[in-house]
Amino acid sequence: MLGITAGVMLVASCSRTQKPTSGGNGEPDLSKSYEYMMAEVDGQMRDLRMLDNQPSSGLSNEKVALGRVLFYDKKLSINNTVACGNCHQQQFAFCDQQALSDGFANKKTLRNSMSIQNVILNNSMFWDSRAGSPGEMSLNPVFNHIEMGIEDDAMLVSKVANASYYPSLFKKAFGSESITREKIGEAMTSFLVTTFSQQSKFDQGKRNDFKNFTDLEKIGKDLFFSSELKCSQCHSGENFMAPDGMGGGYGSPTVKGTANIGLEKVPVDKGKNNGSFKIPSLRNIALTGPYMHDGRFATLEDVLNHYSEGIQANANLDSKLKDGNGKPLKMNLDVVQKQALIAFLNTLTDENLIKNEKFSNPFRN
Ligand code: HEC
Ligand code: HEC
Repeated sequence: MLGITAGVMLVASCSRTQKPTSGGNGEPDLSKSYEYMMAEVDGQMRDLRMLDNQPSSGLSNEKVALGRVLFYDKKLSINNTVACGNCHQQQFAFCDQQALSDGFANKKTLRNSMSIQNVILNNSMFWDSRAGSPGEMSLNPVFNHIEMGIEDDAMLVSKVANASYYPSLFKKAFGSESITREKIGEAMTSFLVTTFSQQSKFDQGKRNDFKNFTDLEKIGKDLFFSSELKCSQCHSGENFMAPDGMGGGYGSPTVKGTANIGLEKVPVDKGKNNGSFKIPSLRNIALTGPYMHDGRFATLEDVLNHYSEGIQANANLDSKLKDGNGKPLKMNLDVVQKQALIAFLNTLTDENLIKNEKFSNPFRN
């Protein structure tokens, strides 16, 4: 307990200095345009317009450019204090390094903010997997009474219409200056689906037989993909995330993409179903702590201590985390194994996602 409290305090005090980069109220700098349609996916340059999970009116550079401004605009909150970018900061793979985040009225969110990356490959959104696609959820936070507090569609549309820079951005994106909730949602979705992370040390390693890995990273990789630890059976595929439920998928249909990992005997937050939560992506995991749906673990070492000897007996504990007698698995990882797993997880950090100007905050103030 002591360790957790200290970790959270530390994070809260350092995040205060990060605030200015999170979004703005002034005028955005729109002098540059960027290419968003081509991104590296699984080692190949791909045209994102060929992938699933598109906004229904299709994807274009102009829609993404508009979505980027909306994402960082504090005017999308009721009192002009909170942008999506407050809780989803580029430098942290679009998380905020707080256990719980600050909404518009100094109220804390109920759960830990989530990274935004490779959303186009994501068919299970939020910790309880309550939305099935980015298009379904992209404006939910705007209307959330803790996060951004906008009361209705009319208020949203009039706040956007009153900012001088939007009519021309809508014209470029949709061919006319008229502003509707649907168009705002389509543009926001467009920005979300282009945030790609596929250029980590791990991605490079896949192409050169992991010659770029240190011995420790290689040991960690073998442990991660081993049938004893089973990490990769849950954190799977391109995104190290829940298998997406297509063609059978993970678990039963009602718990698609979620699992109970025995954090507590009796779950406080029920999540999707009796303590099941979305199996989150591990890409950029070194940047996205504190960890779990409630931010309970400050470090990756704390997470590994949980998997190693902390798994609690629980009626809904995932069978992968039980031993032959149905008891919680004890992995009993030694110090070197933990270091190796952390070294491997660190290879999932992608400088392109966190530094590329095209995903950055366009507001000057
Ligand atoms: C006050 C902090 C806050 C703000 C502002 C905020 N979010 Fe979030 N976001 C969260 C939290 C917390 C979660 C997890 C909520 C849950 O699971 O119940 C989340 C989850 C998400 C997810 C799900 C990611 C996944 O992989 O499942 C996406 C996408 C997202 N937010 C996008 C946005 C967008 C777009 C905006 C602006 C319109 C926004 N957020 C504004 C805190 C915030
Ligand atoms: C049975 C499926 C399952 C297995 C096996 C599994 N995980 Fe997880 N993992 C999850 C779920 C579900 C969560 C989120 C739980 C929550 O927040 O309540 C999670 C969370 C995490 C997190 C924190 C992510 C974040 O964004 O906060 C890390 C790191 C992690 N797991 C690493 C591992 C490693 C390393 C292994 C192997 C030792 C492993 N996991 C095995 C399902 C699994």
